[in-house]
Amino acid sequence: MKPTVQHTTERTTAADAIDRFVRTRQRTFAALGQVSDADLERVHSPLLSPIVWDLAHIGAFADLWLAEVLGRPLLREDLAVTYDAGETPRAGRGALELLDHAGARDYLARVDDALFAALHTLDFSPDAKDPLLRNGFLIDLLVEHEEQHRETILQTLHLAEPGVHVAGPPAAWAGTTPPGPLMVDVPTGQPQLGAHRGFAYDNEQPRYVAAVPGFRIDRTPVTVGAYREFIDDGGYRDARHWSPEGWAWRQQEGAERPLYWQADGTIRRFDRIEAPTADAPVMNVSWFEADAYARWRGVRLPTEIEWETAARLDATTGITRTQPWGEDPVSRARANIDGEALGALPPSAAGAAPCGALGMIGDVWEWTSSPLQAYPGFRAFPYPEYSEIFFDGPYRVLRGGSWATAACCARSTFRNWDHPQRRQIFAGFRCAADL
Ligand code: AVJ
Ligand code: FE
Repeated sequence: MKPTVQHTTERTTAADAIDRFVRTRQRTFAALGQVSDADLERVHSPLLSPIVWDLAHIGAFADLWLAEVLGRPLLREDLAVTYDAGETPRAGRGALELLDHAGARDYLARVDDALFAALHTLDFSPDAKDPLLRNGFLIDLLVEHEEQHRETILQTLHLAEPGVHVAGPPAAWAGTTPPGPLMVDVPTGQPQLGAHRGFAYDNEQPRYVAAVPGFRIDRTPVTVGAYREFIDDGGYRDARHWSPEGWAWRQQEGAERPLYWQADGTIRRFDRIEAPTADAPVMNVSWFEADAYARWRGVRLPTEIEWETAARLDATTGITRTQPWGEDPVSRARANIDGEALGALPPSAAGAAPCGALGMIGDVWEWTSSPLQAYPGFRAFPYPEYSEIFFDGPYRVLRGGSWATAACCARSTFRNWDHPQRRQIFAGFRCAADL
């Protein structure tokens, strides 16, 4: 029998954990590399926080969960309400007295010191009594939380006008999409959907078997060039393509093209104005725009069950894969993730799913038609404010992660969600149809 590596000694686990925290923090700070304190501290949009709020909130979140597992008070009780996302919604954050950039970094450093010291004393083993610690849950929770906020920070920097410089250079628009059909078939099947191994949020569980009637799905996310045809065909001027709510939004917003697209056909990417890349996925569209495009084409958005089935089910063997390409962990070779490209790229064959779909992980979050709901047997853990309070509301599910998503969150079971009118998230979509 092959010996299996087990991280049972607390020393190994603590060292590994500290390493992960440090690397995550380096990425967070790298994203801010060339941004001025003024741009970190100002409100760029009522939709998003001043970036210093996200920074101190990362610290407050760790402070909170560390206090919880250690059974001791917070390091900064006085900051708890200000940096609690539920108590202090985004739109009100600019009016608050916030820690400045240096103050936020000091707080992060204080929490890190306490956290790193505690890691050596806590039991993260598979049989740990505290479910917050068992199998290193707390470590994944804090890392994934910070990585998600790093993506939010990148959204804020992208939204900032007239354009904030972000450390680059962006990867060249290299790589091409191999030729193939517009849509691929996914035959009727019974995938095992949801997560059952490794770290996952409560909303990805429990795993369940779905009976999924066959359908067709776009081989790639809808491209810039394909979306251009919808605009040129008068798609934004014809109410027949839009849901009633979508049309109301379009009129109120005055939307005529995706966010960041200029009237002259160029696209703003942070502080750069660029010519469009026709075969890159379209990005920064609302759910309403995605839905209208699909109707214009005579098709529809996939449900999230269809999306996950297309990403994971190998119809030949009946096996549900962990990732579209199989069991290998996600990497930049398979998917455009981790923020380095600063944008979506034409999907390549390296990330192909069994059905032939490309680019399902990374590049752009993909809108699905599904509202955010609980899976059967859902149990909130570790707190209802992560997912449960958002169930059965106006939110639509997005899948697959974007170019800005960290590897740890770029998994086929991960569920993101947002209001259907939101466009600052790095979201695109692909279409589906009945077989
Ligand atoms: C899952 C991306 C919708 O940003 O509101 C961050 C993630 N939850 N802190 C969000 C999250 C708590 C969440 N989304
Ligand atoms: Fe948060």
